[in-house]
Amino acid sequence: MLDRNRMPGHVAIIMDGNGRWAERNGVSRLTGHNAGMESMKEIVRRASDLGIQYLTVYAFSTENWKRSMEEVSGIFKLLVKFVRLDLDELDRENVKVCALGDYSVIPDAARKSLEKTLEQTRDNTGLQFNIAINYGSRAEIVRAVNRMIADGITEADEETVSRYLYTGDENGNVPDPDLVIRTSGEERLSNFLLWQCAYSEFVFTDTLWPDFSPEKFEEMIEIYQGRDRRFGGRK
Ligand code: IPE
Ligand code: IPE
Ligand code: MG
Repeated sequence: MLDRNRMPGHVAIIMDGNGRWAERNGVSRLTGHNAGMESMKEIVRRASDLGIQYLTVYAFSTENWKRSMEEVSGIFKLLVKFVRLDLDELDRENVKVCALGDYSVIPDAARKSLEKTLEQTRDNTGLQFNIAINYGSRAEIVRAVNRMIADGITEADEETVSRYLYTGDENGNVPDPDLVIRTSGEERLSNFLLWQCAYSEFVFTDTLWPDFSPEKFEEMIEIYQGRDRRFGGRK
């Protein structure tokens, strides 16, 4: 049983397997991404209902530009659709939406609807929902270093580096993920939150992202609750 008093404060999800789901179901990859978007909506809602404070999802990586133009532009069109249809619901539920990554270079329509969402939900105090878009952890670290140099910082400690990452000052200093979930049977980080995951717990599932459900989400949190976190100390 899920222990509601020991919920992870921050859950991060690598939403993987849309393409394989599409292949298995004999539909287009974009239909797979659309189904993945539906899963994401349900998980945001459940995370909010469970009282989780931070949910971060990996929606598009800096490496995903390698895919066909058709797939890339389709993914961003879906993002616009998601934002347009679900913005009011997120807002009503007091969800604060933030974006991690350089979204200035994504297609205009997607960027505009994303900016509108960030603006409209800015003062909400419920779940903080971080969408990692055109996000890559190495690019994030390089950007942090360059921003520190631009600010005249000549020596940095861990806290300073943290503050200059996307998860830092500009997005309210998000605590490190307690739990990282990756779907579709892959067991790698793929350039996601390398710095922030230093002491995160990882839970993997073979379920493809479009088949992921709120029940499965709770199951993964239960697995997390069974883990013994030591942070380098002794029991
Ligand atoms: C995850 O699904 C979504 C994105 C990376 C945008 P994939 O599209 O990577 O699905 P697979 O890995 O090909 O099955
Ligand atoms: C990671 O999935 C990125 C997202 C889920 C957005 P990928 O499918 O791009 O990762 P690899 O290529 O399998 O490592
Ligand atoms: Mg994949």
